[in-house]
Amino acid sequence: MIIVVLGVAGSGKTTVGSLLAEALGCAYLDGDSLHPVANLERMQHGVALTDGNRAPWLAAIRERLLAAFDVGRSLVIGCSALKESYRRALEDGLSITWVYLKGSEALIRSRLQRRTDHFMGADMLSSQLDELEEPLGAITADIGLTPDAIVRQVVERLRAARDVRVFADADAVSHQLAEVIAARVRRTVNSTGRCSLALSGGSSPRRIHELLATRLRDRVPWTRVHLFWVDERYVAHDHPDSNFRMARETLLDHVSCPPGNVHPMPTHHDDPDSAAADYEATLRRHFGNGWPRFDLTLLGMGPDGHTASLFPGAAALDERRRAVIAVAASAVPPVRLTLTLPVLNRSLQSHILALGGRKAIALGRVLGGVAHATIHPVAAIQPASGSLVWWADRAAAQRLGTPDSWEPE
Ligand code: 6PG
Repeated sequence: MIIVVLGVAGSGKTTVGSLLAEALGCAYLDGDSLHPVANLERMQHGVALTDGNRAPWLAAIRERLLAAFDVGRSLVIGCSALKESYRRALEDGLSITWVYLKGSEALIRSRLQRRTDHFMGADMLSSQLDELEEPLGAITADIGLTPDAIVRQVVERLRAARDVRVFADADAVSHQLAEVIAARVRRTVNSTGRCSLALSGGSSPRRIHELLATRLRDRVPWTRVHLFWVDERYVAHDHPDSNFRMARETLLDHVSCPPGNVHPMPTHHDDPDSAAADYEATLRRHFGNGWPRFDLTLLGMGPDGHTASLFPGAAALDERRRAVIAVAASAVPPVRLTLTLPVLNRSLQSHILALGGRKAIALGRVLGGVAHATIHPVAAIQPASGSLVWWADRAAAQRLGTPDSWEPE
């Protein structure tokens, strides 16, 4: 989650931003620390910055946003972002949560006058207020409230914004999600002529596959569907642990998806790294150069919060260049191929499936906002401009809504 706390000088960006980052368990970046020295000197001498002066500053902030987004790290940034054009320059294809600190000129001026250690003096406030274009669609906080109260209000708004759908049991979840997938495939094929899906392995998706292959089969234009995998165990495709084998048994053998549209991760190379490179070539042939963008990605999560084959503490979580890598997982079988976070977070629609009580603690921590992506990698699934829906049965959801009863990690 990328959050920018914006407002004029003296509105409390650093205080609120730091507290908000602490509450979310992520880093805080003071945007002013990225100003070129020439800008700091201008402001210290009471010279208002121009759009041209701000351009390199905004570019530096944008680069830090992209770095965090690529690896699914939440980041809170304090940045005045006074103009809509500045906010567009920062956002450009990402999905940023804007928190606008709003207050009266008198209150802000009084705060600035009490501040001695900051390069921005009270005399700059008028020019900032003249430039300020209040953001639409931001979480607007009244700076008359205490910083703690503002942070509580923002955290609650963020939590309420998540799309979490809980159903009585795994079968009910599977029915609902299978319907959503079928509808998404139909709409996408109607509008673009094809639909590229990324499937997960494990046991949770089985029932969804079965429903897509039976009750919903005729509602899906299978000849236009391309199937990929988010990860694969490095075993033969007929091995009992193969994700491809599971999909073949529960889905592929029962629908008319042309063989050329089915793109399993290769596991025949002697070297898994070569297999990863081979799959990247497959993705390039389908999506062209640049990052692959799936129309829909179906993810599971493990009791340890892993997703795809991105496991807690793995170096793979920091991969920003490659789309597919080979990993040695803390699971059986250990060697796997996995899509990386820059790909997963570019999916246009993502669904995360959590079934069973074994997932309850991890799910509670992730949705309670107290999970670190390195400890619970599924928390790093934060699609930029795509949608994300969490699907859980009651057993997996049993700890939702009680994050305060846990110690942060
Ligand atoms: C895999 C999956 C993996 C899976 C979780 C949950 O290859 O194992 O891609 O990420 O989604 O481990 O597995 P279950 O659905 O079996 O609980």
